Amino acid sequence: MKILVTGGAGFIGSHTLVELAAAGQETVVIDNLCNSNRKSLERVAELTGREIPFYEVDTRDREGLNHIMEAHRFDACIHFAGLKAVGESVEKPWEYYENNIGGTLTLLDVMRQHGCKNIIFSSSATVYGNPAIIPITEECPKGHCTNPYGQTKSMLEEIMMDVQKADNEWNIVLLRYFNPVGAHPSGRIGENPNGIPNNLMPYVTQVAVGKRPELGVFGNDYPTPDGTGIRDYIHVVDLARGHVAALQAIERHCGCAIYNLGTGQGYSVLQLVKAFEKVNGIKIPYSIKPRRAGDIATCYSDPAKSEKELGWKAQYGLEEMCRDAWNWQRQNPNGY
Ligand code: NAD
Ligand code: WQD
Repeated sequence: MKILVTGGAGFIGSHTLVELAAAGQETVVIDNLCNSNRKSLERVAELTGREIPFYEVDTRDREGLNHIMEAHRFDACIHFAGLKAVGESVEKPWEYYENNIGGTLTLLDVMRQHGCKNIIFSSSATVYGNPAIIPITEECPKGHCTNPYGQTKSMLEEIMMDVQKADNEWNIVLLRYFNPVGAHPSGRIGENPNGIPNNLMPYVTQVAVGKRPELGVFGNDYPTPDGTGIRDYIHVVDLARGHVAALQAIERHCGCAIYNLGTGQGYSVLQLVKAFEKVNGIKIPYSIKPRRAGDIATCYSDPAKSEKELGWKAQYGLEEMCRDAWNWQRQNPNGY
């Protein structure tokens, strides 16, 4: 298949390019580089032994998208491009709605005008809000999102489901990611956050490399065994392979399909910190801080549907996630 990958220079996109290449799929990338660096694509070329055509284009740029779709005939699009910082989305809601929703609407329109009606979309476990059932199946009702970022994911799911309902030539796969962490085992590509990391694992690796003095643990009074929040961390290489598997759903004309991509195993903040220390032999100083606004106690997936229907199952555990996250940070202390 020939696949348009939006946001392909980013964290999950770059890892997915490597797995798509290994599966023999052809890719073309668009990215406006607002949260990434073209070096990630150079490293992908180094890992795969092939150059991937790249266009520095924004998903809101209709002319730019038209030009690319005229130059290539795509079988499907994997749509990663979007803004993703929860806290920033509370400060800049308009920018999040305009980029994530505006960009996706333009992309869908240009796609259908060029007869490409197959898309895999990066959704998030955040759409479950404070989950009604644990472990979370795809049937779990969507919940209240406490921030504009989460709202964009939830709204885009609804928009795409409506588009598919009205025109059943569309095949739309909504992948709800749990907590992607780690990096390619080579240490050549990985997560490259700007400024202070919002997420736990990149914060831990920055403490490990000496860029930050200590980790703040956001709350130890949750109703969990050690009081800290529990999440379903998933190795980014497993997550990337989930996209390769999701292409099968497109091939069998799934209509609209929703899949959780998680391991099914929850770990607390302190369990992750302990695992990181043990695997890498590095002490991570931490102190307990107040709860972070909008956080929930426990969130982990039931990944059975993805295994049954896509034949996909996460292979890596917490040890490999900690090992590979550190391997990347250690080799690239300042990112790309
Ligand atoms: P990322 O920021 O590393 O990658 C997103 C890429 O999209 C970046 O390269 C950025 O430059 C690009 N981009 C943003 N807006 C664009 C636009 N309008 N036009 C073109 N390119 C644009 O983030 P990531 O972690 O790789 O996430 C990929 C997708 O997965 C995002 O949609 C994100 O919301 C979603 N997601 C991420 C997580 C996570 O924890 N990382 C969890 C659930 C869902
Ligand atoms: C994990 C745990 C924190 C940082 C977010 C988004 C979600 C999805 C994935 C995109 C929590 C604790 C964190 C720190 C800490 N992204 N923590 N100290 O909040 O589960 O999910 O990323 O879709 O939408 O909300 O991930 O990595 O921020 O936090 O104690 O410095 O680590 O409280 O319990 P989260 P996270």
